[in-house]
Amino acid sequence: MAAILVTGANKGLGFETARRLVIAGHIVYIGSRDIERGRRASDQLGARVVQLDVTDDASVRAAVDTVEADGGLDVLINNAGVAAEWGARMPRSAPLR
Ligand SMILES: NC(=O)c1ccc[n+]([C@@H]2O[C@H](COP(=O)([O-])OP(=O)(O)OC[C@H]3O[C@@H](n4cnc5c(N)ncnc54)[C@H](OP(=O)(O)O)[C@@H]3O)[C@@H](O)[C@H]2O)c1
Repeated sequence: MAAILVTGANKGLGFETARRLVIAGHIVYIGSRDIERGRRASDQLGARVVQLDVTDDASVRAAVDTVEADGGLDVLINNAGVAAEWGARMPRSAPLR
């Protein structure tokens, strides 16, 4: 059993990923930039919820503190990624945080 946070998990692929991880017996955090949408999703799945907007450093810091206080994470699934426009040039590297 692992503790896993899925960003952008209140709907779409993140929600489905979280759903399957809960069924597999993991402790799953629904990361959601809107806490109410996140709470609805986590209630539906039997998961935990944490407010997390991946573009907001304060929100990320608060989410880290919340999860660490709860025992920490084994896995981060950063599903709430950034979609590039077709044909746009992507950076060759970016710092991990
Ligand atoms: N679906 C595809 O065919 C496909 C293909 C290639 C890549 N992807 C990538 O896979 C990921 C999920 O796709 P999806 O189709 O499941 O998208 P989706 O249905 O639009 O769901 C996106 C999720 O990310 C959340 N989100 C958006 N911006 C966020 C932010 N700044 N901080 C935290 N959460 C944020 C949304 O929250 P709200 O409800 O608040 O908006 C929602 O929960 C995306 O990164 C997408 O680019 C998808």
